[in-house]
Amino acid sequence: MTITKNVMWHKAVVTKEDRNQLNQHRSAVIWFTGLSGSGKSTLANAVDLKLFQNKVRSYVLDGDNIRHGLNRGLGFSERDRKENIRRIGEVAKLFVDSGIITLTAFISPFQEDRDRVRQLFRNKEFIEVYVKCALEECERRDPKGLYKKARIGEIQHFTGISSPYEAPLNPEIIIDTEHVAVDEASTKIIDYLRRNKII
Ligand code: ADX
Repeated sequence: MTITKNVMWHKAVVTKEDRNQLNQHRSAVIWFTGLSGSGKSTLANAVDLKLFQNKVRSYVLDGDNIRHGLNRGLGFSERDRKENIRRIGEVAKLFVDSGIITLTAFISPFQEDRDRVRQLFRNKEFIEVYVKCALEECERRDPKGLYKKARIGEIQHFTGISSPYEAPLNPEIIIDTEHVAVDEASTKIIDYLRRNKII
């Protein structure tokens, strides 16, 4: 509290609305949540590519990448995950203010943390996408070999194995990656953006 006491919020001259008008589309955050290996990054990048091809300004913030830079030093305890998501939420907010459709791909296992991020945004600006995939299937895919390590105790607090995952209660979109291919899934998300007049 005391640290920010004398820091004033500087109001921008160029507003988000001005930027949206220049871009000819609105900005929003598409928040993908799901187990490791459920397909969040693949899907976020597929949507990003479709947006790019449609001349829409977008950008993907990805779990593994952010943890190498901005959030290096944060681990996987409940407390660190909470802080991880809080920071990503704030970064996403800046991106949305700058007019960009921001796609985030983090496990973000706790409903409370996702809801707190949602509160940073206006109605319709926060689109929660539940990337649904059974633990057994994520474990079968195991693209990074991490489930195997978690099972033999080489990784602690692994989501789905030794740390909980809370599925979204009320997501805007659900994508079942066991039954829907990435192209169809990304089209569904693009259609949602069109229907809601974001693009
Ligand atoms: S979150 O829970 O804080 O949202 P985040 O999405 O940033 O997690 O990072 C998850 C990625 O970190 C996984 O895809 C996996 O590659 C890696 N990882 C390493 N250790 C763990 C762990 N204990 N639990 C989950 N993911 C882990």
